[in-house]
Amino acid sequence: MATSNANKKSPNFPKVHCFICTQCSYQTEDEKDGPVDPTLAKNFRRTLKKICQHRFPKGHVLINQTTCLGFCKEGISSIIYPKQIVTTSLRTGQEAQIADLIGQLLAGLD
Ligand code: FES
Repeated sequence: MATSNANKKSPNFPKVHCFICTQCSYQTEDEKDGPVDPTLAKNFRRTLKKICQHRFPKGHVLINQTTCLGFCKEGISSIIYPKQIVTTSLRTGQEAQIADLIGQLLAGLD
């Protein structure tokens, strides 16, 4: 069996890895008494991924979906490694702010 050494550095590993909870659901101002929109978090991740693909060198940033991070109903939640930065209460339109945070992390990691 082959095992990997977590301390080993590979050029193929992303420098920043962001997980977006795509199960998060919340009601928008227009939906206060209606159903939550389950597509908001999924679209947030897709938009963030596109922004990062344009902004950062290929392979430096990975944007993945994940399940519950424990901050349900506040809005969209994320966690960014290697610093383990958790953001909650994200809304559609704030994707660029997360990309900015990722950019700051990348700049600090070099
Ligand atoms: S469902 Fe997204 S944090 Fe719980």
